[in-house]
Amino acid sequence: MDRTRLHALLARESAEAERRNPRSRAAYADAGHLFGRVPMTWMNKTAGAFPRYLASARGARVTDVDGQRYIDFCLGDTGAMAGHSPAPVTEAVQRRFAELGGATAMLPTEDAEWVGAELTRRFGLARWSFSLTATDANRWAIRLARAVTGRPKILVNSYSYHGSVDESLIVVGPDGKGAPRPGNVGAPCDVTLTSRVAEFNDLDQLARELAHGDVAAVLMEPALTNIGIVLPEPGYLAGVRALTRQYGTLLVNDETHTFSAGPGGCTAAWGLEPDLLTIGKAIGGGIPAGAYGLSADLAERLLARADLDLVDMGGVGGTLAGNALSVAATRATLEHVLTDEAFAHMDRLSARFETGVRSAVQEHGLPWSVSRLGARTEYRFADPAPRTGTASEAAADPELEDFLHLYLANRGILLTPFHNMALMCPDTTEQDVDTHTAVFGAALLELAG
Ligand SMILES: Cc1ncc(COP(=O)(O)O)c(C=O)c1O
Repeated sequence: MDRTRLHALLARESAEAERRNPRSRAAYADAGHLFGRVPMTWMNKTAGAFPRYLASARGARVTDVDGQRYIDFCLGDTGAMAGHSPAPVTEAVQRRFAELGGATAMLPTEDAEWVGAELTRRFGLARWSFSLTATDANRWAIRLARAVTGRPKILVNSYSYHGSVDESLIVVGPDGKGAPRPGNVGAPCDVTLTSRVAEFNDLDQLARELAHGDVAAVLMEPALTNIGIVLPEPGYLAGVRALTRQYGTLLVNDETHTFSAGPGGCTAAWGLEPDLLTIGKAIGGGIPAGAYGLSADLAERLLARADLDLVDMGGVGGTLAGNALSVAATRATLEHVLTDEAFAHMDRLSARFETGVRSAVQEHGLPWSVSRLGARTEYRFADPAPRTGTASEAAADPELEDFLHLYLANRGILLTPFHNMALMCPDTTEQDVDTHTAVFGAALLELAG
């Protein structure tokens, strides 16, 4: 990569963003009362000097306050995998909130059992409980796993992401041992007191860590999706299940992103058998919603424990979790939007996207790899595709990523700020994918000089 050329291109695209988006730029400059100038600090993780401000969004389209329109492959980093404001969810939310009312009445609604049954049909877990975010679903699953096993530690894969969960802020350090994730602002104690870590795709390391006998649960994505997509090698997931059973450790599949693999995520697509499953983001169709599922056996064991406070202030639950509005939105999403047919459409378009990117990369002889997990495709600046989180982290190239993101955004295409990731939704079209392929190809041509 010619860095001088890349810097010049980056400067040109930054200037173009300023020209195209004066109102967004001014809004950012004026936002003196917000911590880091944004409603949430991660919104600063954007290519260029300021984020584009949202005006409206529908289906696979976003319009910013400057009137620029985008094909949205970011889709709220999965929160909008159902498309923005899909009609069935809009109707369900309007009915629940405006007509019926009672979003936070602290009473169950009949929709909840429908959603529980549908989640069981899709993912196999027998009992369900709700949260508002995937982070909380993970937190509560972890607490239940510790309570039922009596073990203190949680094992995660190096450079995985499971939300702002303290136990997950651990990576494999240069000496091969667990170390705090660089820069984390998590719990004020040594993370190795609460956690163990193993590289994805490394069963030997997993076996060594589990052999200590102190791991309550392995919390993992069946494929890593937050450090590029790192796919499991043949036999890896079966090995994880065998080892967790051997060492009496529970297995929690976090399907928040891997839901892209199909209507029942990787768990259904690959016949996995976790003890717990967590999910958030997409299931609410844009309304905050999360859930965790437990096996029937685990649920019974937990409910039989009179010493555990699962109903009051014992550490699981939130006042707004399972609220009528979130549950109504989740029902509408699962019943009418993220259907089997929608997933088939998304999968087909994602394969088209993958082919387009791969052809352009090959045409320019770039040492990049492209990985796909159903409706989600991502490219990484390494070839072959990294097989662990640490290797994938080492392949990051923030400047190159910024250039590509800015180049695409200035031509009406949004990718997820944290990734070179594109997600399809039910409203994405072939034309959208082909537009991306053309613009991406043009970006590579400019890089080649
Ligand atoms: C796999 C996974 N789990 C959990 C989360 C946390 O989701 P949320 O921030 O909505 O709580 C994320 C967020 O990106 C995720 O990718």
